[in-house]
Parts: sequence; structure tokens; C-alpha cells
Amino acid sequence: MSQQWWRDAVVYQVYPRSFADSDGDGMGDLPGVTARLPYLKDLGVDAVWLSPFYVSPQNDAGYDVADYLDVDPRFGTLADADELVSRAHGLGLKVIVDLVPNHSSSEHPLFQAALAAGPGSPERDMYVFREGRGERGELPPNNWTSIFHGDGWTRVTEPDGTPGQWYLHIFDTTQPDWNWENPAVHEMFEGILRFWLDRGVDGFRVDVAHGMVKPAGLPDATLNAHGLIDIPEGEVPIYFDNDGVVEIYRQWRPILDEYDGDRMMVLEAWIPEKRLPLYIGVDRAHQSFNFGFLQARWGVETMRAAIEGPLALAESVDSPTTWVLSNHDVIRHATRYGFDPDHRFGEGLSRAEVPDAALGLHRARAASLLMLALPGSAYLYQGEELGLPEVADIPDELREDPAHKRAGVPGRDGCRVPLPWRHDAPAYGFSPSGESWLPQPDAFGELAADLQEGVAGSTLEMYRTALHLRRELGLGEHADGVTFLEDVPAGVLALEHAGVLVLVNTTDEDIPLAGIPASAGREALVASAAGTADVIPAEAALWLRR
Ligand code: GLC
Ligand code: MG
Repeated sequence: MSQQWWRDAVVYQVYPRSFADSDGDGMGDLPGVTARLPYLKDLGVDAVWLSPFYVSPQNDAGYDVADYLDVDPRFGTLADADELVSRAHGLGLKVIVDLVPNHSSSEHPLFQAALAAGPGSPERDMYVFREGRGERGELPPNNWTSIFHGDGWTRVTEPDGTPGQWYLHIFDTTQPDWNWENPAVHEMFEGILRFWLDRGVDGFRVDVAHGMVKPAGLPDATLNAHGLIDIPEGEVPIYFDNDGVVEIYRQWRPILDEYDGDRMMVLEAWIPEKRLPLYIGVDRAHQSFNFGFLQARWGVETMRAAIEGPLALAESVDSPTTWVLSNHDVIRHATRYGFDPDHRFGEGLSRAEVPDAALGLHRARAASLLMLALPGSAYLYQGEELGLPEVADIPDELREDPAHKRAGVPGRDGCRVPLPWRHDAPAYGFSPSGESWLPQPDAFGELAADLQEGVAGSTLEMYRTALHLRRELGLGEHADGVTFLEDVPAGVLALEHAGVLVLVNTTDEDIPLAGIPASAGREALVASAAGTADVIPAEAALWLRR
């Protein structure tokens, strides 16, 4: 690894409840993660990002935090967290934890105190409480809707039993937004940062990182024909991406810099690319997810644009870009690329949609190879190395995504199904008891890690090979940059980086390498699909050595 570790790291996202269950309650846990760290080491990643494992009623799978400084008993104890960090460090893996500063759980003691203390109190000022509109305050303070559908405000009953103020929640009713205009909120989060930095974590993934600061006066938003906040193409809802949010990163950066070992933060900010310079820099955040790449449709022009844009921006902010194709919020890419020609990533997969699974996996493997050849850091989501698909047939009563509960959309549970480790074990090896908080489909059996291990051409071995080559050849480093080859057959995306020629065939027919003179005499390093040595197989990617 070069200079600061995060600049070219491959970070593996662990979604704790679905990774590995050690105690048989059907819910993954921290000891389960610790036990599988050697698997991640072997895979060849540099770091692990853990989605929230803090005390939480789990109304949004832990993104509703009731105590930022302790581990939820479902996931273990603080001692388990310490053990995980120290074992990871022993293996040379960094550990990033999730930080959720936009909102807490409604069960957070400070929110409970705010409810009890009543209007005008300092306790209420920790959150965003307002009087309602209308004659008796019966209407919400403004027309903001929640990202999870429905109203963005909930009215409370005051301690004296009367209907009272409203509080803002950009997400679920049980996720009240913190009031970042209050210095006490800043102080509290600085303490939270230090708590985890002192325990040795290497960084933070900041949740809804573009959300904490709301526009002054909380003005109404423009609504669309469906009564939802209008979001013009390439823009964000009114309550996101307000300039003042950068002040928070300016405060946090010196804290991280006080610690040794290049502690970092990566922002989950769904913002237009051009806004990146506000957030990233030596006096603000280190990096931000580049969701443009995730959203790009399969095709030469679309994928090339999603690479060139971020690379150019990275130079301007002097921070390598990140790459990501899947996470716990989007339809897994092995399924997403099977939608043809439509392309959708949000709100889950309905049973009525039947994307082409084989095509999806083919393209997903190619897209992953493309991603892993690019300079910058790459974020993998657990199970993508097995080629797991999105699961559509989860019984509605088992779905937990608040968006499903609020609006009936399929929701994000389909990408959160527990991992298959062994094809012949109960719950495919996820849990010793065979319990699993979501049912695993039969298709997971054939994709179990044990069936892929050591099998040439399996998705798992493709990732391993690519990750080891990436490190060996320094592909994550920027070096001389990326050069696109122009004179190539139609449907081929060709680029050269750090001595590797990367070819992606986006068509449904094999393309002879003879049409690409630059490939002559080069050794194939890894391919996303089997084929003869003289072609790029259909819907596949190849790396060739100089
Ligand atoms: C982020 C998380 C998502 C969560 C939301 C609210 O987008 O990734 O899972 O539901 O924030 O915290
Ligand atoms: Mg468990």
C-alpha cells in the first residue's frame, strides 16, 4: 500500500446482522465477524467497514442508534468490538466503523428527555422541534417528506397530555434528526469520535453525510405530481447538501489528525459529482463514495463517463476517487445488470420483476474486474465476491426495511440476506443453529463460499486473483493515470493503467482480440468469463499484462 492507506485501499463492507452468527440466534454478530477475519485476509482486502452494531431498537437495522458508545447485545459487547479490532489489526486489516450523525433512535435517552422536558427546553433543542402550522398547530411545520416515504414530521403529545410540537425525521418516525445548530450536538459527536478513535478504529463511514445541516428557516420544498419532494435530475432534496455541513468536517478533521495512523472518514453523500470539492480536502473529509459509477448503466459510453468524471475530480481535490458497485441500500449488482434495458438500484426488487440472472452475474463480474483495476479505493459489499443476487421472494411479514413498512415498496432486505458459507450446513453455515433472520433462497446453496473456494473461474477466485494482482501491480495507485484506447471495436471499453490493459466487451458476442492491436503479445492475467485466448468473451472483462 502506498502513502496514506485509504488512498488505494479495498474496503469490505460487513453488514453485521447478515455476515456470520456465532451464537445461533439467527442474527449475525461481532464474534461471528472476528471468526471470519482470516477469510477476508485471504480474499485480499485491506480494510473492513462495519455497518452499525450499536445499541438500537433496530427499526432501521441499526441506523437508528440509541447509544453510540455501546454494542447492542444482539451483536455482542464492547469487549467483542475491541477483540475484533485487535484481531483485525493483527492480520494487517484496518477497521472502519459507521457513524450516524444525522439522526438518532427515538429511544435515545436524549430524545426521551426532550419529549419529557417540553417545548422551549434545552433538551428539545437537541433535536428539531417546531410548532405546527394551522389554527391549532395540527399541520406539520413544512411540507418535507421522508426518504422512506410519508411525512417528514411527527407530532408529539406533550407531558401534560395535549397534542404538541412536531419533530423532524428525514427518515423513519423513530429516527429524529439531531439539531446541528446546537453546539451541544457538536460536542457530543466529538466525544463519540474520540471514544472510537481511542479504541483503535481506523476511520468512520459517515452516514447521510450531506444531511445534518438544514436550510435556514426550514422552507417548504417544491412538490411533484405525486406529492413528494421534487428532485430535479442531478439534484438532491432541499434538506440535503447544504453548504454549512462542511463546517462539521472542518471540526472533525483535526480530531482525526491528532491520532496516529492516518485515521480517515469516508462520506455517504448522495450528491452531484460537482459538489465534491466542498466536502473533500486536507481540512475536511478524506473521501466520499462515488455513486455515479454504481448508477451507470452497462455500456461503453456510460461506464467510461462514470470513470472519467470522478478521475478528473479526484485530481482537483487531491484525493483519489472511490469505487463502489453494491452496498446494503441498493439492488445487488449481480441482479441490477440483469435488468435490460432498464436500470434501477433503489427500493429493492419486487417479485414481479424478473431480471436475467445469468446475464446479471456475467456483467457484474466484468464490472467488478473493471472497478478493481482502477486507481483509488474500492468498496466491496459482503457477498458480492460470491456473486450473490438480490433476493425478491422474501415474505412481506419478514421484511424489516422501514420503507417497506411505510410505503409497501419491496425495500432493501433483498440485499441483506445472510451469507451462505457452506452448501451442506444448516442456514448454509451462517448460523450454528440453522436460524437466519431472513430466509436464504435455494440459489444461495450453489453460491456458498465452500463450493467456490479453490474452484478456477468461480466468482470468489476471480475476486481473489484480481485483489492480489491489484496489490502486486499497484493498480490502486494513481501513477500515470488511466488512458482510454480510442481505436477499438464497437462495444469495447478499453483502458490502460499501471501496465495493465483492461478490456470490457459490453456486447453479447465474443470479440476477437485481433481487432485490438494493443493486445498483441500480452499475457492474460484474469478474466471474468471463460473463453478462448483470442477473444474477449461476450459481456466480459479481461486484464492483460504489458
Ligand atoms: C443511510 C444508510 C441507510 C439508512 C439511512 C438512514 O443511507 O446507508 O441504510 O437507512 O442512511 O440512516
Ligand atoms: Mg448472533
